[in-house]
Amino acid sequence: MVMRVRRFAGVEGQVRPPSDKSLTHRAYMLGALANGQSRVRSPLESEDAHATRSILTALGARFEQVSSNEVVVHPCAEWHQPDGPLDCGNSGTTMRLMAGLLAARPLDCTLTGDASLSRRPMKRVAEPLRLMGAQIDGDTAPLRIRGGHLHGIDYATPVASAQIKSAILLAGLLAEGVTRVTEPAQSRDHTERMLTAMGAILICEGLTTTVQPGAQLKPFEFEVPADISSAAFLMVAAALAPGSHLELLDVSINPTRTGILSVLREAGVLVAQDRTREVLGEPVADLLIQGQELIRPFTIAGDLVPTLIDEIPVLAVLATQAEGVSHIRDAAELRVKESDRIDKLAEGLRAMGAEIETHPDGMIISGPTPLRGVTIDAAGDHRLAMAFAVAGLVAEGETVIEGAESVATSYPDFERDLWRICLA
Ligand code: S3P
Repeated sequence: MVMRVRRFAGVEGQVRPPSDKSLTHRAYMLGALANGQSRVRSPLESEDAHATRSILTALGARFEQVSSNEVVVHPCAEWHQPDGPLDCGNSGTTMRLMAGLLAARPLDCTLTGDASLSRRPMKRVAEPLRLMGAQIDGDTAPLRIRGGHLHGIDYATPVASAQIKSAILLAGLLAEGVTRVTEPAQSRDHTERMLTAMGAILICEGLTTTVQPGAQLKPFEFEVPADISSAAFLMVAAALAPGSHLELLDVSINPTRTGILSVLREAGVLVAQDRTREVLGEPVADLLIQGQELIRPFTIAGDLVPTLIDEIPVLAVLATQAEGVSHIRDAAELRVKESDRIDKLAEGLRAMGAEIETHPDGMIISGPTPLRGVTIDAAGDHRLAMAFAVAGLVAEGETVIEGAESVATSYPDFERDLWRICLA
């Protein structure tokens, strides 16, 4: 699929971005563990979320669609040995969190993925789960997991990754003894918040989370808020044109995810928050973004990185239009996402006229540079496809994004939402 984009005059309007991907995965997985039926309203309908749902179904959970936007999760009363491999598609969250869930179950399962997921590092989850007692073959997909009796560990993860942390905590729910995981910087804490709301025995102290097994997990009702990582593309579109005015409804503003709001403010964009509330331990608000005349350069580094890791591609687009030099450091994780996001992003944006120096852990972007429309390959990466589309809004001529079908993994209605708010 190809996406075609032309220069816009700005953004005006209101959007409810798609529901949060991380929270939908967790609502399905934790619903499958609960001691009763849970209700999930407005789950994300995307390929990644569907992969998690199909795998849990193969393992014995049941998802009953009770209305167009509500699913009742019937937990796995008994975990079934699946007939064949469990396909995680493009979804790293599905593979890594499922590895944690399966590690403690006396099953023999194989997790597979598409070409991109099969290249991504899995040793980071396999290693701690092996230390807990699971038998795992493979450090990349396919991963064969023979789970069983686990014991708690005290583990320091080398990278700040919610996927690693969550896999260990999910395994720890059934391990013998206490499991403790410490990360080098705070990554998103959705698993901890949801488990706490369900009554798990969990202690979060600084960068260390401890889980004690044995608690009955209460079922829940959860209205999944909108995904700040998907909203990010629309926010940057608004930030790129002075006078733009964008309202984003029901967005998850968990502080472990809101790094983009600090960066937008540093860049001089007006960001306001309204109707702040809490849903199953997760803060949610409406956000108001107003584009200003001048975009200031910004720095993304250190502890800020995990709070906006998925938003860096589109923030790099913003940096191409900032008045000065922007720096992105400490973000080597970008090289092992759905694509090598440092090289592929720089390749695409340079072809459009951007000035970018790449480094092993980031990039230096000098702006402002006029961009021109070209044909770009999104490298099968949904966030690159959408970032290039946003770059196309300020480029001269037409930008053609090839391989844009990948947006279906997280934001199937991206083009529709973008055209709804973009002024011609
Ligand atoms: C996710 C965590 C992040 C993020 C990914 C979703 C999650 O990955 O990039 O899109 O749902 O836990 P890492 O935790 O591996 O950095």
